[in-house]
Amino acid sequence: MTLVRFISADGSRISEVDAPAGKRLLEVAQADGQPLEGTCEGQMACSTCHVIVDAPDFDRLPPASEEEEDMLDFAADVTRTSRLSCQIWLTEKLQSLTVRIPGTSHNMQGR
Ligand code: FES
Repeated sequence: MTLVRFISADGSRISEVDAPAGKRLLEVAQADGQPLEGTCEGQMACSTCHVIVDAPDFDRLPPASEEEEDMLDFAADVTRTSRLSCQIWLTEKLQSLTVRIPGTSHNMQGR
């Protein structure tokens, strides 16, 4: 299990969930009701699943692929520790993971 901690864009809400290894971070976030659209369902074609990873956790994740880096260029509010949550798989080794929802990630239902 990985203890995943989601911090809301303004930092006011923290949600903690236990998620099993093998899950994608995007799925865990959506199951928890986090406002990540993930429009392309992990095809690396949208960047609406962008999250900002806590710096120490960022260093423990496998690095982003070139495709992911390219897609992140299109995301708003990108930081040095930005990742696409559809490209992060939880593992047994990763005991905890803290991510923040970017400020401009509105839940635009129906676009
Ligand atoms: Fe589209 Fe992650 S869901 S890039």
